[in-house]
Amino acid sequence: MTDIEIKKGLAGVTVDYTAVSKVNPDTNSLLYRGYPVQELAATQSFEAVAYLLWHGELPDAAQLAEFRSTERQNRALQPDVKAAIDLLPTSAHPMDEVRTAVSVIGARETAGILNVLDAVGTPEENLERSIRLFGELPAIVAYGQRRRRGLEPVEARDDLDYAANFLWLTFGEEADPVVVDAFNRSMILYAEHSFNASTFTARVITSTLSDIYSAVVGAIGALKGPLHGGANEAVLHIFDEIGEASNVVPWLDRALAEKRKIMGFGHRVYKRGDSRVPTMKGALDTLVAHYDRPDVAALYDTLEAEFVNRKGIYPNLDYPSGPAYNLIGFDTLTFTPLFVASRITGWTAHIIEQQASNALIRPLSAYNGVDERHIDGYVPDTAAITVAERAEEAAG
Ligand code: COA
Repeated sequence: MTDIEIKKGLAGVTVDYTAVSKVNPDTNSLLYRGYPVQELAATQSFEAVAYLLWHGELPDAAQLAEFRSTERQNRALQPDVKAAIDLLPTSAHPMDEVRTAVSVIGARETAGILNVLDAVGTPEENLERSIRLFGELPAIVAYGQRRRRGLEPVEARDDLDYAANFLWLTFGEEADPVVVDAFNRSMILYAEHSFNASTFTARVITSTLSDIYSAVVGAIGALKGPLHGGANEAVLHIFDEIGEASNVVPWLDRALAEKRKIMGFGHRVYKRGDSRVPTMKGALDTLVAHYDRPDVAALYDTLEAEFVNRKGIYPNLDYPSGPAYNLIGFDTLTFTPLFVASRITGWTAHIIEQQASNALIRPLSAYNGVDERHIDGYVPDTAAITVAERAEEAAG
């Protein structure tokens, strides 16, 4: 074996610069284009934050109005997307529905671009494509949940902001402003997080000069995993298993004895707490009060206290967002698609950034397989001319 140092999981490896967001584990802070995420969540709409991620600055009133108008024009569930989703079994995981939907949109939007050298698109085209995906994803995610419940899709409402319309599309009724506000905050908190696994996947695909839709489809695949976005739904499975706060201790004894990972805790970068958790916990608290569900808060607090006390590992964003989405009425299976609808903003900002300063992402590996060996009886064709010999001949 060689003495090459392997950075398993690329842990601790800095791969590139980004101006989209800054994660600082020492200060537990997360900045989007320089702004602390908790300030954005407290003061901005998700549309304004999406604009910020793409343009680098918050919009003024006229820019926000124009951006909202474009987003509203793209809210409809397109017939080809609905038809493709309807081909899937209702037992398909909704992340597979969303991944399929983006594939369909990609094939439609890039139809006729058959020269692979043109696949990547211009920054302007990719910004437009990003906004269209941003606009249509709520209808796709909402339809998934309605379809599983045997319900028809509802028409988007262009008199509602993004978060309120998303809830309308899902539940077919106008949500209380308290709920809209909590949901808006969650969308902002999920929007961007530097070189996480799905964003990095999107950047790897983009680095080959493939198109933005292929990059987003790959990112959705990465996000589905329970070590990444799938953790928010996994938190609810755990809550369902535990049942109520009084069961936490015996449940945790058993889970830790079985060396289970407790979903919603731990983070590759934050080791002293996730910067987004206090804001999301605040949103969860308002939902607990709104729906009068102190039992949820008791289970949440008890598991957190016990786990942190025993392992010193803190909750990540998925821990408060899972129960928050459950209280709002989303199916557990819809949680990770909600993450997609939010993170589409961060992914596409990174895709555009990668395109602007591209280098093919192609790391090295250290071989640890069997030594070189040969096929029995194979006789090399000594008459065959090698590439080097041909080049020599050509040169004269
Ligand atoms: N439950 C139980 N133990 C955990 C844990 C968790 N949620 N998270 C970390 N640990 C333990 C590991 O078992 C490991 O212990 P060991 O050193 O005795 O083997 C140690 O802490 C380091 O964990 P490791 O998985 O190597 O760290 P990482 O940086 O690769 O992990 C995560 C980061 C997110 C993959 C990990 O914390 C995890 O699996 N969390 C649960 C899934 C989750 O919530 N994902 C969403 C992330 S935003």
